[in-house]
Amino acid sequence: MHTSRLHGNVRLKIDKKGKTLGTYTIAVLPGDGIGPEVTEQAVHVLQTVASRYGHIFDLSYALVGVAAINTEGAAISDATMKLCQQSDAILFGAFGDAPPNEGPDSKRHPANALYRLRKELELYANLRPIRPLQALLNASTIKSEVLLGTDLLVVRELNGGLYYGKPSEIRETSQGYEAIDTLIYTEAEIERIVPCAMHLIRRPTSFDVIVTENMFGDILTDEASMLSASMGMLPSASLGTRRTPHGLFGLYEPIHGSAPDIAGQQKANPIAAILSAALMLRYAFSLQQEANAVEAAVEQVVNAGYRTEDLREMGKKTVGTQEMGKLIVDAIA
Ligand code: IPM
Ligand code: MG
Repeated sequence: MHTSRLHGNVRLKIDKKGKTLGTYTIAVLPGDGIGPEVTEQAVHVLQTVASRYGHIFDLSYALVGVAAINTEGAAISDATMKLCQQSDAILFGAFGDAPPNEGPDSKRHPANALYRLRKELELYANLRPIRPLQALLNASTIKSEVLLGTDLLVVRELNGGLYYGKPSEIRETSQGYEAIDTLIYTEAEIERIVPCAMHLIRRPTSFDVIVTENMFGDILTDEASMLSASMGMLPSASLGTRRTPHGLFGLYEPIHGSAPDIAGQQKANPIAAILSAALMLRYAFSLQQEANAVEAAVEQVVNAGYRTEDLREMGKKTVGTQEMGKLIVDAIA
């Protein structure tokens, strides 16, 4: 039998001996395209961690992106914003292509969901760790001897920069059109991201850190994903300074998009989403052992020769999205 008491705004479950069972609230926003497929596997991983380590993950699902525009009239509703605000962490999938005639400032542009979450929840530091797995060194287009030992953390500023550059204008010149955009940062925005980055990094000497502007961070990490052989391998954590009773409040998402061309075909790689769940365990819930277990399980399955479609390699076993998720779940359990 469980009793419960309130701690801050979090209800903790207490078992018969008075031991506190961790209850963590997670807003799950699967989104569009491959978002739901990869998020489902990340959720299975979280459920496995919960039962193996005795935690309670309290999941609340909501719509974002095209799915939300079609049914709720906005890429993210105010109710969903509130749900996210009140959760300990947010698990985000991906959102679909923009509908015609809607700019990213419009509530009916799918990207607006992410922009609102990042801005209104003040998640300004996006951590993108890049640590190619040994077993995938040959799967990259880059020579393995160049990749060996790569351990990189990109800290992408998320609330300013070119994405929010105003005024932007397009004008006609004798040589054709030219466009002007401004890259704006306040001193405070620059000052807050660096110490934050420093604070989170417990082994500052053992890997390289790049702190970068919003749009450059997006481009750099898309490129850097080739170090890890596929964009389907890279997780991210978007953080600010807010703390919950468990750790840092934040949003966790793969760096890839909704890939509508491969959606629903069991071709998506769920590892980026699963590794994002591992980052959630580490930063949002301070569950280091559990985070390490998920990362070790991913490595074990890849070492055993299993690959999703994006990592198709001669002599390796190609598996679908669900099967990859199940292999990782089994490795944890
Ligand atoms: C990302 C994505 C988004 C971004 C886009 C889709 C708005 O590419 O999270 O990396 O650039 O922030
Ligand atoms: Mg991107």
